[in-house]
Amino acid sequence: MGLNKVEEYSLVLPGGFTSPIDVDIVPSPSIFLSALGAVGLTAYFGLQDAGQPKAGETVLVSGAAGAVGSMVGQIAKIKGCRAVGIAGGAEKCRRLIEDYGFDAAVDYRGKDIDTLTKEIGEAAPDGVDIIFENVGGDILDAGLMNLNEYSRVILCGLISEYNTEPKGARNLWQTIVKQTTVKGFLIRDYAPRFSEGGAEVAGWIADGKVRFDEHIDSGIENSFEVFMKLFSGQNTGKLILDVSPD
Ligand SMILES: NC(=O)c1ccc[n+]([C@@H]2O[C@H](COP(=O)([O-])OP(=O)(O)OC[C@H]3O[C@@H](n4cnc5c(N)ncnc54)[C@H](OP(=O)(O)O)[C@@H]3O)[C@@H](O)[C@H]2O)c1
Repeated sequence: MGLNKVEEYSLVLPGGFTSPIDVDIVPSPSIFLSALGAVGLTAYFGLQDAGQPKAGETVLVSGAAGAVGSMVGQIAKIKGCRAVGIAGGAEKCRRLIEDYGFDAAVDYRGKDIDTLTKEIGEAAPDGVDIIFENVGGDILDAGLMNLNEYSRVILCGLISEYNTEPKGARNLWQTIVKQTTVKGFLIRDYAPRFSEGGAEVAGWIADGKVRFDEHIDSGIENSFEVFMKLFSGQNTGKLILDVSPD
C-alpha cells in the first residue's frame, strides 16, 4: 500500500505511506484503498483523535455518503453518539440511514444557508458537539450555526472549494461565542499508526459493526472522467480506479 501515482506499475521505496499488505486475509485487496486504507483511517483517527467524541454527543458529518463520511458516521455510532449526515439527494440520504445507521440525514441540494441551518437544527435537536467537515462553503456555514458550547470542528476536507474561488467560512464567529476548538486534520502524520487503526477497523468489519462501499471503475485511460466523479457526487463509498493491465 502506498501513496503512488495513477500508473500500472510503481517502483517504490519503503517507509512513509509505503507498507506491505497481506491480501490473503481480506476478501479483496481493494479494502486497503477503502476501509483499511488512508480513507478509512482518516475517519478513524480524525474523529477519535481530533474529535474526542463522548457518548451522548452529536456528530455532524458532511460528505456523509462518501468514503470518509460514511465511516465517520458509523464510528460515531460505535462511540455512542448521535450521527447526523449531510449528503446530496434523497437516495444518498436514504442510504445514510438504512445502510450506514445514521440517526438523521439532511439533503443539502438546492438549499441556502438559512434553510440548511434550520434543517440541521431539526436533525440535531440538542445541538452539534462535533462537526466533521469534508465539504466546506455553505454547508460548513450552516453547521457552524448549530454548534454547542465547547464543541469541536475537525477540518478534514473542503471539497466544494477545490475547483472554485473559496467562499470562506462566514459564520466562523460562532466558534468564538461557543468556545469551539477548530482542528485541521491530515492523515499523513498517522502513517506510523496505520496497523493499529487497521486492526480495530478490521475487527469492526468482522463483527458487522461497520459497512463500507466501493465504487470501482476500470481502465487507466478513464482516469480523468473517473476522478471527476468525486466532484459531481456520482460515487457512494470509496471511488476506486482499477488500473491492472490485464
Ligand atoms: N485530511 C485528510 O487527511 C484527508 C484524507 C482523505 C480525504 N480527505 C478529504 O475528505 C473529503 C472526502 O473525501 P473522500 O475521498 O471520502 O471523497 P467522497 O466523499 O467519497 O466523494 C466526494 C463527495 O463529496 C461531495 N461533493 C463533491 N463536491 C461537492 C460540493 N461542491 N458540495 C457538496 N458536496 C460535494 C459528493 O457527495 P454528494 O453527492 O453528497 O454531494 C461526492 O460524492 C474530501 O474533502 C477529501 O479531500 C482528507
